[in-house]
Amino acid sequence: MKARAYVNFALIKYWGKKDEKLRLPFQASLSFTIDKLFTDTKVTVNKKLIKDKITINGISDERLNKRVIQHLNLIRSKYNIKDYVEVTSVNNVPTSAGLASSASSFAALTLAATKAFNLNLSKEELSRLSRYASGSASRSIFGNFAIWDVGDDKTSIARPIDINWPEFKIIVLMIDKSKKPASSTDAMKESVENKLLYDEWVKQSKIDLDKMLIALNNKDIKSVGEIAEKNANHMHDLIESTGITYKTKESLKAIDKIHELRTKGVLAYYTMDAGPNIKIITIDSEVNKIVDYFNEYETIVCSKGKDAHIVLN
Ligand code: DP6
Repeated sequence: MKARAYVNFALIKYWGKKDEKLRLPFQASLSFTIDKLFTDTKVTVNKKLIKDKITINGISDERLNKRVIQHLNLIRSKYNIKDYVEVTSVNNVPTSAGLASSASSFAALTLAATKAFNLNLSKEELSRLSRYASGSASRSIFGNFAIWDVGDDKTSIARPIDINWPEFKIIVLMIDKSKKPASSTDAMKESVENKLLYDEWVKQSKIDLDKMLIALNNKDIKSVGEIAEKNANHMHDLIESTGITYKTKESLKAIDKIHELRTKGVLAYYTMDAGPNIKIITIDSEVNKIVDYFNEYETIVCSKGKDAHIVLN
């Protein structure tokens, strides 16, 4: 069974867990699932296997395989399944460069594996299962805009939000395809320990989320961009208070150029995750101006992606 799930970028970030094992967040997050970056994962039950056989992007890497096996074990134990599987996963996303490849990977794995085991789960259950593997994966079950709510094991899942805004775009600036300096899981943990700053983050992100929902409903790109930018900067300030930084010289240069563009009247705003690449938040009418201005970088212009789904070849 082959499934495809798309990458999502958070406009209001998830940063920090109140329960590490269940991956329950301290605050709700809001994301946009895009069309251009995705993961295809094929899972086949093979009764002859005595352990899972995993290939990710053409190779079998012990460290990457471990997280996949852990997730398969969780699904097997939850639904009382004994079979081992063959997993072949292909990302059209550079792994670990802050392009949220764990989100699309684990959402695709969850859908493909549960289908291969003949489980027909609801999107809510798929979102919950994906969350156990990687928090942001809970949101990649849904296309377009989604909110991942705070709550307990049952209620902390993603849900789609009904905003139809085809002009909304995210442009990925490929600054660096190398691996990030610290995993988001580890950096998050350190951030939560910085209690004073962390509590402030939780408080402010709730305010940001409410404002973001109003701005999205109004299709007000200026407000959406400003709120997202402020939220991302807040998260990065928090991360930097632990001594970790995901910003490189090149990221800072690109951020300066986005400010420059705005002084020229272009509606361009940025967000950044646990890696050096920059995502520019904008609308259709501005795309060409932005791509031209950043002609020294590889750019990927993204529209809304679909829900995770089964692909038939
Ligand atoms: C900065 O979902 O990768 O992209 O739950 O530990 O696997 P784990 O973390 P992960 O964190 C993503 C953090 C982020 C912001 C976001 O996507 O909301």
